[in-house]
Amino acid sequence: MVQNLIENNRNWAREKTRVDPDFFSRLVRQQNPEYLWIGCSDSRVPANEIVNLDPGELFVHRNVANLAPPQDANYLSVLQYAVHVLKIKHVLVVGHYGCGGVRASIESTDHGLIDHWLSPIRDVAHEHRHELDACSSQDARVDRLCELNVISQVRNVATNPIILNAWREGQPLAIHGWVYSIANGLVTDMNISVRNLAERERLFGI
Ligand code: CO
Repeated sequence: MVQNLIENNRNWAREKTRVDPDFFSRLVRQQNPEYLWIGCSDSRVPANEIVNLDPGELFVHRNVANLAPPQDANYLSVLQYAVHVLKIKHVLVVGHYGCGGVRASIESTDHGLIDHWLSPIRDVAHEHRHELDACSSQDARVDRLCELNVISQVRNVATNPIILNAWREGQPLAIHGWVYSIANGLVTDMNISVRNLAERERLFGI
């Protein structure tokens, strides 16, 4: 019931103020997040909760299958604001195992409009088809593609002109790729952090 949500909200705000009387007045003055989270819309992957950060500490962009498509105005606007105005220090691209979007991308059934959105993942799957074909099950294939998709999106972010200009101007900015497990609540670092052009060259050859 929606009315329950309003009651939840009242209780939450009361509890926040009880623990920290200045909590909301501080947030009104400014937000000062050091992190941009690019994650999946999946309701089981709540950005702030997973990394135990309060409101004001994490700038969040979520879409189906945590994509960073170079032509997507929504993502680009978020990235530009995060880098230019908020001066965030880290971009976290966070996928999750068992992602329904990733799974749908390699199913042969027609899902309508979402198939268009998911087409970059199909490209990743095609590029890595031999490795994926060798997976022991469809679940294993989906999970590996979740990882490969995160790596591909980190590459997208690391080649974005907004990021390049920030690096050229000496702004400290690192891009990281994680995959979250809904089964145990833990993130796995894909070890593809990119902090500068030399690291990008070493990791992606570009
Ligand atoms: Co998902």
